[in-house]
Amino acid sequence: MLSTICRKTFPRVPRPASLSSVRMLSDVQNPKTAIVMLNMGGPTHIDQVGDYLHRIMTDRDMIQLPIQNKLGPWIASRRTEEVQKKYMEIGGGSPILKWTNSQGRLLVEALDKLSPETGPHKHYVAFRYVPPFTEETFAQLEKDGVERAVIFSQYPQYSCATTGSSLNAIADFYKSTPVPKNIKFSMIERWASHPLLAKVFAQRIQEKLEAFDPSIRDDVVILFTAHSLPLKAVSRGDTYPHEVAATVGSTMQQLAVPNPHRLVWQSKVGPLPWLQPYTDDAIKAYAKQGRKHLLLVPIAFVNEHIETLHELDIEYCYDVAKEAGIKQIERAATPNVHPTFIEALADVVINHMNSGQRVSKQFLTRCPHCVSARCQSSKEFFRELCTDKYYEKNVL
Ligand code: FES
Repeated sequence: MLSTICRKTFPRVPRPASLSSVRMLSDVQNPKTAIVMLNMGGPTHIDQVGDYLHRIMTDRDMIQLPIQNKLGPWIASRRTEEVQKKYMEIGGGSPILKWTNSQGRLLVEALDKLSPETGPHKHYVAFRYVPPFTEETFAQLEKDGVERAVIFSQYPQYSCATTGSSLNAIADFYKSTPVPKNIKFSMIERWASHPLLAKVFAQRIQEKLEAFDPSIRDDVVILFTAHSLPLKAVSRGDTYPHEVAATVGSTMQQLAVPNPHRLVWQSKVGPLPWLQPYTDDAIKAYAKQGRKHLLLVPIAFVNEHIETLHELDIEYCYDVAKEAGIKQIERAATPNVHPTFIEALADVVINHMNSGQRVSKQFLTRCPHCVSARCQSSKEFFRELCTDKYYEKNVL
């Protein structure tokens, strides 16, 4: 029995009337603390796909190509139609903005209750490749007159290609705009090992294990799947692979089931070598070994997006699994707005605010083989932004 979760529910993503209507949902009067949720974002409608791909393909933090200013736009325009088709197949756009806003609203509600002294809290979304862009969000929180801003990466596991790219964009923005005089900034750039994050992944897995017959349930192979990374980035010293593995380890500990598990990697692009084994290859290989009951668990993204709804649900759970002769394959949901996940977000933020640490030494340390001048200057920028240098100079 091939699972039908992949094809049966594709709710059309409602097209917001305008960006301001999205913001209306989270309007908070006189916010004291801003929670700035960083993510790459995804096109809400297909007419954003071309621009989205162009921005990704020309971002050297995300991807390095020869003659990138020419090759990047060329690849983006060649891929636009094919990618638009995929977004059409998942309902007409990415749900990342919808989920991030829902998570943000629930998060600030929780923070207002748990930490009234730092409230009112207001969430802001800062996307890298689609609106609301990082630059406009940072301009907005200054206009709102917040006293404190917690920059909170929505990638639990840090990579220089994802969170690093968003942070470099913030540093770039403040090269051309004066740093706000009266905001205390701090940063949560990684939270891969938080116990409540592991708990929500364990709960999501448990929900899907129940879908297997009890007679074979313990033998289902749990395949944790994360976006792959070029081996060149791994060799530079990017911490992403071991941080993803840390989340897998703590999730399995929470789950306490006898099932075998593996960490596999998806979404490779281009001809160069990336982290393996690839998720689709692993499905085929397990089928050949006679392991025909599989559970896919997206472990590096906190909400549904094209790589879960299309790549996992349509391409792998359906097409690849069917061709390989898999008997049953399920896909665990991402955390989305699971109550344990909202608890996790709130706990991460409160622990961070209580710690007094505004920027971690781990973030300030470059990869051993980093050759990017952008990384160096952005780390220097945040070292100053997240101390009282700007604040003291301008306010005290
Ligand atoms: Fe990792 Fe520069 S590539 S810090």
